[in-house]
Amino acid sequence: MEKIGILTGGGDCPGLNAVIRAVVRRSLALGNDVLGIKNGWAGLVQGFVEPLTYFSVSGILPRGGTILGTSRTNPFKQVEQVQKLKSNWQKFGLNSLVAVGGEDTLGVAHKLFKQEGYPIVGVPKTIDNDLAGTDYTFGFDTAVQIVTEAIDRLHTTAESHKRVMVVEVMGRHAGWIATHSGMAGGADCILVPEKKFNVDDVCALIRKRIDRGREFAIVVVAEGATPDETHQVLTKGGHVDEFGHAQLGGIGDWLGKQIEHKTGIETRVTVLGHVQRGGTPTAYDRVLATRFGIKAVELIREKQFGYMASLRGTEIVAVPIEEALNQKLLDPKVFDDASVFFG
Ligand code: F6P
Repeated sequence: MEKIGILTGGGDCPGLNAVIRAVVRRSLALGNDVLGIKNGWAGLVQGFVEPLTYFSVSGILPRGGTILGTSRTNPFKQVEQVQKLKSNWQKFGLNSLVAVGGEDTLGVAHKLFKQEGYPIVGVPKTIDNDLAGTDYTFGFDTAVQIVTEAIDRLHTTAESHKRVMVVEVMGRHAGWIATHSGMAGGADCILVPEKKFNVDDVCALIRKRIDRGREFAIVVVAEGATPDETHQVLTKGGHVDEFGHAQLGGIGDWLGKQIEHKTGIETRVTVLGHVQRGGTPTAYDRVLATRFGIKAVELIREKQFGYMASLRGTEIVAVPIEEALNQKLLDPKVFDDASVFFG
């Protein structure tokens, strides 16, 4: 019998509970114990854990968030934290660990495996879908569904008032959410971090549409998109997390003002924010997360440490965690398809 630890780190994401459930159910069925580590890497540093049983994971499949809690703790910020993490690993008698997270959480997992030899496997997650090493991450489909529904709703009010609606969505480095939801919702313009934009071009698209007789427009902008006027990502204050990331936000408001000023058309801005990350996961995300969880236990059984579960086509495969530390930017072909409908 082995003791498997599991933690969830970074921004939460619909589907995390499905991973936890799958890891627990599969591990217990194989005769192992599972220890839930609370609040990401912070739990291992502080020794904050709870044994996970069939009862602990009962009913969590459709629930958003993570029953384990999460944080953006980087133990490598301080040598003492790594020491505490190591002594807690020993104290709890862990034989292996499943780290569920994005580039930061998996970056710590990779370092602990590579530099210190810890038996860790990974499960990639982010609503942004911007991790290399996997075709899709769970949480993304749910976020796209939420944004698409919001765009559908904004359409009817935009049409009634003959307004431009700017919708700011998540997407720090990549415009996957903006492009997929914009395409699904019929946006007239989509702005993404991968491509600097020019406000006059955006206004020209809006005018073109209005000249065709459609007296309203929907513009979707990713939070990390940058106008060529300012050349900088807009942030909310100077605070950065332990991995050096600032809180993004403000591009929607900036753009809305510019559009209204330059076109003379009344413009409203909707910032969807964390609504995109909350609530119940879609069926697709539940299935993907469940399959990732099962794969993580298989990786441990096969002692494939330093690897993570990954989606390739329709298969769940093993890839080195290191691969997820690179960014997967938007496929330009997908953006080109979306842009057929601009203006
Ligand atoms: O990384 C996922 C993400 O949702 C980004 O799109 C966004 O910039 C960030 O997390 C927000 O993080 P927080 O929850 O810390 O505000």
